[in-house]
Amino acid sequence: MAPDRGLFVTLEGIEGAGKSTQARRLARALEAAGRQVVSTREPGGGTPLGEALRALLKDPAIWRDLGLAEIYLYAAARCHHLESLVLPALERGAVVICDRYLDSTRVYQGSGRGRPPDLIEQLHALPPLTLRPDRTLLLDLPVEEGLARARRRTDEAPSGYDEEDFAFFGRVRDGFLAIARREPERVRVVDGSGPEAVVHARLVAALADLVPGLTPAEQAP
Ligand code: TMP
Repeated sequence: MAPDRGLFVTLEGIEGAGKSTQARRLARALEAAGRQVVSTREPGGGTPLGEALRALLKDPAIWRDLGLAEIYLYAAARCHHLESLVLPALERGAVVICDRYLDSTRVYQGSGRGRPPDLIEQLHALPPLTLRPDRTLLLDLPVEEGLARARRRTDEAPSGYDEEDFAFFGRVRDGFLAIARREPERVRVVDGSGPEAVVHARLVAALADLVPGLTPAEQAP
Protein backbone atom coordinates (compact mmCIF):
# COMPACT_ATOMS: atom_id res chain seq x y z
CA MET A 1 0.00 0.00 0.00
CA ALA A 2 1.28 3.48 -0.81
CA PRO A 3 2.30 5.45 2.30
CA ASP A 4 -0.11 8.16 3.43
CA ARG A 5 0.66 11.44 1.77
CA GLY A 6 1.43 14.32 4.07
CA LEU A 7 -1.35 16.80 4.67
CA PHE A 8 -0.88 20.50 5.35
CA VAL A 9 -3.67 21.92 7.51
CA THR A 10 -3.68 25.53 8.68
CA LEU A 11 -5.81 27.14 11.37
CA GLU A 12 -6.69 30.80 11.05
CA GLY A 13 -8.77 33.31 12.93
CA ILE A 14 -8.70 36.55 14.87
CA GLU A 15 -7.26 36.87 18.38
CA GLY A 16 -9.28 34.86 20.89
CA ALA A 17 -10.80 32.54 18.27
CA GLY A 18 -9.51 29.52 20.20
CA LYS A 19 -6.99 28.27 17.64
CA SER A 20 -4.37 26.96 20.07
CA THR A 21 -6.79 24.93 22.19
CA GLN A 22 -8.50 23.55 19.11
CA ALA A 23 -5.17 22.73 17.43
CA ARG A 24 -4.20 20.54 20.40
CA ARG A 25 -7.47 18.62 20.38
CA LEU A 26 -7.45 18.23 16.62
CA ALA A 27 -3.95 16.76 16.86
CA ARG A 28 -5.24 14.13 19.29
CA ALA A 29 -8.12 13.24 16.97
CA LEU A 30 -5.72 12.88 14.04
CA GLU A 31 -3.38 10.67 16.06
CA ALA A 32 -6.33 8.50 17.05
CA ALA A 33 -7.07 8.14 13.32
CA GLY A 34 -3.57 6.71 12.93
CA ARG A 35 -1.84 9.78 11.53
CA GLN A 36 1.55 11.10 12.52
CA VAL A 37 1.01 14.74 13.55
CA VAL A 38 3.36 17.70 13.70
CA SER A 39 1.84 20.73 15.44
CA THR A 40 3.41 24.09 14.85
CA ARG A 41 2.61 27.77 14.67
CA GLU A 42 3.59 31.01 12.99
CA PRO A 43 5.46 32.99 13.89
CA GLY A 44 7.49 30.59 15.98
CA GLY A 45 7.26 26.89 15.32
CA GLY A 46 10.21 26.31 17.61
CA THR A 47 12.68 27.77 15.11
CA PRO A 48 14.98 30.33 16.76
CA LEU A 49 14.15 32.88 14.05
CA GLY A 50 10.39 32.39 14.39
CA GLU A 51 10.44 32.51 18.17
CA ALA A 52 12.57 35.67 18.07
CA LEU A 53 10.01 37.26 15.74
CA ARG A 54 7.21 36.25 18.13
CA ALA A 55 9.12 37.85 21.01
CA LEU A 56 9.42 41.05 18.96
CA LEU A 57 5.62 41.16 18.56
CA LYS A 58 5.40 42.21 22.20
CA ASP A 59 7.23 45.47 21.46
CA PRO A 60 4.82 47.80 19.60
CA ALA A 61 7.57 50.38 19.07
CA ILE A 62 9.30 48.02 16.64
CA TRP A 63 6.18 47.51 14.52
CA ARG A 64 4.90 51.06 14.36
CA ASP A 65 6.75 52.25 11.28
CA LEU A 66 8.06 49.07 9.73
CA GLY A 67 6.42 49.58 6.37
CA LEU A 68 7.02 46.84 3.84
CA ALA A 69 9.67 45.24 6.05
CA GLU A 70 6.80 43.79 8.06
CA ILE A 71 5.84 41.61 5.10
CA TYR A 72 9.42 40.55 4.45
CA LEU A 73 9.96 39.65 8.11
CA TYR A 74 6.99 37.27 8.14
CA ALA A 75 8.03 35.86 4.77
CA ALA A 76 11.62 35.24 5.92
CA ALA A 77 10.49 33.48 9.09
CA ARG A 78 7.98 31.45 7.04
CA CYS A 79 10.66 30.44 4.56
CA HIS A 80 12.87 29.09 7.34
CA HIS A 81 9.95 27.38 9.09
CA LEU A 82 8.93 25.65 5.86
CA GLU A 83 12.43 24.46 5.02
CA SER A 84 13.40 23.34 8.50
CA LEU A 85 10.15 21.85 9.76
CA VAL A 86 7.02 21.81 7.57
CA LEU A 87 8.35 20.41 4.29
CA PRO A 88 10.41 17.60 5.90
CA ALA A 89 7.35 16.58 7.97
CA LEU A 90 5.11 16.50 4.89
CA GLU A 91 7.72 14.39 3.08
CA ARG A 92 7.59 11.89 5.96
CA GLY A 93 3.82 11.66 5.44
CA ALA A 94 2.82 13.59 8.56
CA VAL A 95 -0.20 15.79 9.00
CA VAL A 96 1.15 19.26 9.77
CA ILE A 97 -1.21 21.47 11.75
CA CYS A 98 0.01 25.02 11.52
CA ASP A 99 -1.55 27.73 13.70
CA ARG A 100 -1.53 30.71 11.25
CA TYR A 101 0.09 30.86 7.82
CA LEU A 102 -0.09 32.91 4.62
CA ASP A 103 -3.73 33.94 5.11
CA SER A 104 -2.68 35.74 8.31
CA THR A 105 -0.20 37.81 6.32
CA ARG A 106 -2.87 38.54 3.71
CA VAL A 107 -5.31 39.82 6.29
CA TYR A 108 -3.16 41.29 9.10
CA GLN A 109 -0.61 43.03 6.87
CA GLY A 110 -2.87 43.40 3.81
CA SER A 111 -6.50 43.97 4.86
CA GLY A 112 -5.66 45.19 8.38
CA ARG A 113 -2.64 47.43 7.87
CA GLY A 114 -3.11 48.28 4.21
CA ARG A 115 0.20 46.86 2.99
CA PRO A 116 0.12 46.03 -0.74
CA PRO A 117 -1.57 42.68 -1.39
CA ASP A 118 0.32 42.29 -4.68
CA LEU A 119 3.66 42.23 -2.89
CA ILE A 120 2.41 39.51 -0.54
CA GLU A 121 1.25 37.39 -3.50
CA GLN A 122 4.46 37.99 -5.47
CA LEU A 123 6.65 36.89 -2.55
CA HIS A 124 4.53 33.79 -2.09
CA ALA A 125 5.00 32.86 -5.73
CA LEU A 126 8.66 32.13 -4.93
CA PRO A 127 9.93 28.86 -3.45
CA PRO A 128 9.48 27.57 -0.87
CA LEU A 129 6.65 30.03 -0.14
CA THR A 130 4.58 28.54 -2.97
CA LEU A 131 3.35 25.84 -0.60
CA ARG A 132 -0.42 26.13 -0.07
CA PRO A 133 -2.44 24.34 2.61
CA ASP A 134 -4.54 21.33 1.63
CA ARG A 135 -7.16 22.68 3.99
CA THR A 136 -7.50 25.86 6.00
CA LEU A 137 -9.88 25.86 8.94
CA LEU A 138 -11.03 29.39 9.64
CA LEU A 139 -12.32 29.71 13.20
CA ASP A 140 -14.75 32.54 12.85
CA LEU A 141 -16.06 34.64 15.70
CA PRO A 142 -17.51 38.16 16.09
CA VAL A 143 -14.71 40.59 16.88
CA GLU A 144 -16.24 41.55 20.24
CA GLU A 145 -16.33 37.92 21.35
CA GLY A 146 -12.77 37.17 20.21
CA LEU A 147 -11.27 40.23 21.86
CA ALA A 148 -13.19 39.59 25.09
CA ARG A 149 -11.74 36.07 25.18
CA ALA A 150 -8.24 37.31 24.34
CA ARG A 151 -8.48 39.87 27.13
CA ARG A 152 -9.29 37.14 29.65
CA ARG A 153 -6.18 35.17 28.72
CA THR A 154 -3.67 35.29 31.51
CA ASP A 155 -0.56 34.93 29.33
CA GLU A 156 -1.07 38.14 27.40
CA ALA A 157 -3.09 40.46 29.61
CA PRO A 158 -3.53 43.23 27.04
CA SER A 159 -4.30 46.55 28.61
CA GLY A 160 -7.54 46.74 26.66
CA TYR A 161 -8.71 47.32 23.11
CA ASP A 162 -9.74 50.69 21.75
CA GLU A 163 -11.93 51.73 18.82
CA GLU A 164 -9.00 51.49 16.45
CA ASP A 165 -8.34 47.89 17.47
CA PHE A 166 -11.98 46.95 16.91
CA ALA A 167 -11.85 48.51 13.45
CA PHE A 168 -8.57 46.73 12.69
CA PHE A 169 -9.86 43.30 13.76
CA GLY A 170 -13.07 43.96 11.84
CA ARG A 171 -10.98 44.36 8.67
CA VAL A 172 -8.99 41.25 9.60
CA ARG A 173 -12.12 39.17 10.08
CA ASP A 174 -13.66 40.46 6.84
CA GLY A 175 -10.38 39.69 5.06
CA PHE A 176 -10.44 36.08 6.26
CA LEU A 177 -14.08 35.67 5.21
CA ALA A 178 -13.33 37.14 1.77
CA ILE A 179 -10.54 34.58 1.24
CA ALA A 180 -12.95 31.81 2.26
CA ARG A 181 -15.48 33.03 -0.32
CA ARG A 182 -12.79 33.06 -3.01
CA GLU A 183 -11.41 29.61 -2.14
CA PRO A 184 -14.28 27.57 -0.68
CA GLU A 185 -12.61 24.22 -1.39
CA ARG A 186 -9.46 25.03 0.60
CA VAL A 187 -10.90 27.31 3.27
CA ARG A 188 -13.73 26.08 5.49
CA VAL A 189 -15.38 28.58 7.79
CA VAL A 190 -16.01 27.01 11.18
CA ASP A 191 -18.20 28.73 13.76
CA GLY A 192 -15.83 29.31 16.69
CA SER A 193 -18.51 30.16 19.24
CA GLY A 194 -19.89 27.73 21.81
CA PRO A 195 -18.35 25.02 23.98
CA GLU A 196 -14.88 23.68 23.11
CA ALA A 197 -16.17 20.17 22.32
CA VAL A 198 -18.81 21.51 19.95
CA VAL A 199 -16.28 23.63 18.05
CA HIS A 200 -13.93 20.63 17.94
CA ALA A 201 -16.66 18.49 16.36
CA ARG A 202 -17.24 21.20 13.74
CA LEU A 203 -13.52 21.26 12.91
CA VAL A 204 -13.40 17.49 12.58
CA ALA A 205 -16.39 17.60 10.22
CA ALA A 206 -14.60 20.22 8.13
CA LEU A 207 -11.55 17.98 7.71
CA ALA A 208 -13.11 14.52 7.59
CA ASP A 209 -13.19 14.33 3.78
CA LEU A 210 -9.36 14.47 3.74
CA VAL A 211 -8.70 12.07 6.63
CA PRO A 212 -10.41 8.68 6.53
CA GLY A 213 -11.52 7.52 9.98
CA LEU A 214 -11.29 10.94 11.65
CA THR A 215 -13.67 11.27 14.60
CA PRO A 216 -13.83 13.79 17.49
CA ALA A 217 -11.40 13.31 20.37
CA GLU A 218 -12.49 13.22 23.99
CA GLN A 219 -11.36 16.07 26.20
CA ALA A 220 -7.84 15.57 27.58
CA PRO A 221 -7.88 14.17 31.15
P1 TMP B 1 -1.30 34.47 17.87
O1 TMP B 1 -0.67 33.95 19.11
O2 TMP B 1 -2.68 35.00 18.03
O3 TMP B 1 -1.21 33.52 16.75
O4 TMP B 1 -0.41 35.79 17.56
C1 TMP B 1 0.38 35.97 16.49
C2 TMP B 1 0.29 37.40 16.02
O5 TMP B 1 1.06 37.53 14.84
C3 TMP B 1 -1.13 37.83 15.67
O6 TMP B 1 -1.35 39.11 16.17
C4 TMP B 1 -1.13 37.91 14.18
C5 TMP B 1 0.31 38.18 13.84
N1 TMP B 1 0.70 37.70 12.51
C6 TMP B 1 0.72 38.61 11.46
O7 TMP B 1 0.43 39.78 11.65
N2 TMP B 1 1.08 38.16 10.22
C7 TMP B 1 1.43 36.86 9.98
O8 TMP B 1 1.76 36.52 8.84
C8 TMP B 1 1.40 35.93 11.08
C9 TMP B 1 1.78 34.51 10.85
C10 TMP B 1 1.03 36.40 12.33
